[in-house]
Amino acid sequence: MPAWLMPVAASTQAAKVDRIFIGLTLVSAVIVLLVVGLVVTFAIRFRRGSKADRGPLPEVVSREFEIGWTAATLFVFVFIFWWAASAEIGAFSPPKDALEIHVVGKQWMWKTQGSNGAREINELHVPVGVPVRLVLTSQDVIHSFYIPAFRLKRDAVPDQTTEAWFQATKTGTFQLMCSEYCGTDHARMLGRVIVMEPQDYAAWLSAQPEGDDLAHQGERLFSEKGCSGCHAPGSSVHAPSLAGIWGQAVQLDGGKLATVDAAYIRDSILQPARDIVAGYAPVMPSFKGLLSDGEIQALTAYIRSLGAGPREIRTPGVPPLSSRVPGAQPARSPAMVPGAPVLDTPAPAGPAVRP
Ligand code: CUA
Repeated sequence: MPAWLMPVAASTQAAKVDRIFIGLTLVSAVIVLLVVGLVVTFAIRFRRGSKADRGPLPEVVSREFEIGWTAATLFVFVFIFWWAASAEIGAFSPPKDALEIHVVGKQWMWKTQGSNGAREINELHVPVGVPVRLVLTSQDVIHSFYIPAFRLKRDAVPDQTTEAWFQATKTGTFQLMCSEYCGTDHARMLGRVIVMEPQDYAAWLSAQPEGDDLAHQGERLFSEKGCSGCHAPGSSVHAPSLAGIWGQAVQLDGGKLATVDAAYIRDSILQPARDIVAGYAPVMPSFKGLLSDGEIQALTAYIRSLGAGPREIRTPGVPPLSSRVPGAQPARSPAMVPGAPVLDTPAPAGPAVRP
């Protein structure tokens, strides 16, 4: 693709998106040429005073042709839909071992934080050739995280978590922008994505101030914000234990099942009365307005890290390339093995105890 026509292509997704873009452009060009060609031809041929035949059309044109081009356009558009939709759906499921980076958009900056602790503003350092999963949210209005060189665009929506992933194929610095009008300084909501060789990335990461990773931050918040008062094992208030619940299906009051993911935890924190876990009383107050989006992300990371294997310790100088939430991959705690006896027996739901 010539450079003046398209930004540089620097991710595994880019070629696919470009093929669709070029395909659509070619199909549109063919249709435009055909229509303009016919308009011009007919305008000349049937101009006033010309001797062209204006009688009825031959049967084959008025029926077979009509059916033919209706079917052909239908086929072309169904094909385009399938082509683009399959590429888009593929872009939704990141590889399991992807590096996880949390992104918070706010007027007017991008805050990023790897689960390995590296925190940045309007910058994002990533290693080349490694899949990176982005978990996005917004602190105020809708923003859209856009890296043209990666052909990647995903909205960051307040009170919601969206995801995207990419794998960079070239080292270098690429433009990051906001592509959703979000207020006065929308156009200045710019940033840089710096793609580095894995060893350079490792060096960069170890030179970062030794910050807490998200899960540790979440652990601190868990007691600071009072979550531990009810959810810690052995607390006097009867609340569901959070150990090992990540990714599990929980039974809700009323018989529905819910899967514990970022959205479920977010809802449980902000609208606790909506989905009550079966067997528990709806006593939890909402934390709406009391926790920022970043704090909810940290708490989510903490809950995710619970109940599975030992914490991964980050050795200075040897940062983990794949910064899964510590311990998220290995075996689950015994309590979560399907069929294993559950020690914590929920009390029957009684009259709601107001906190
Ligand atoms: Cu943020 Cu536009």
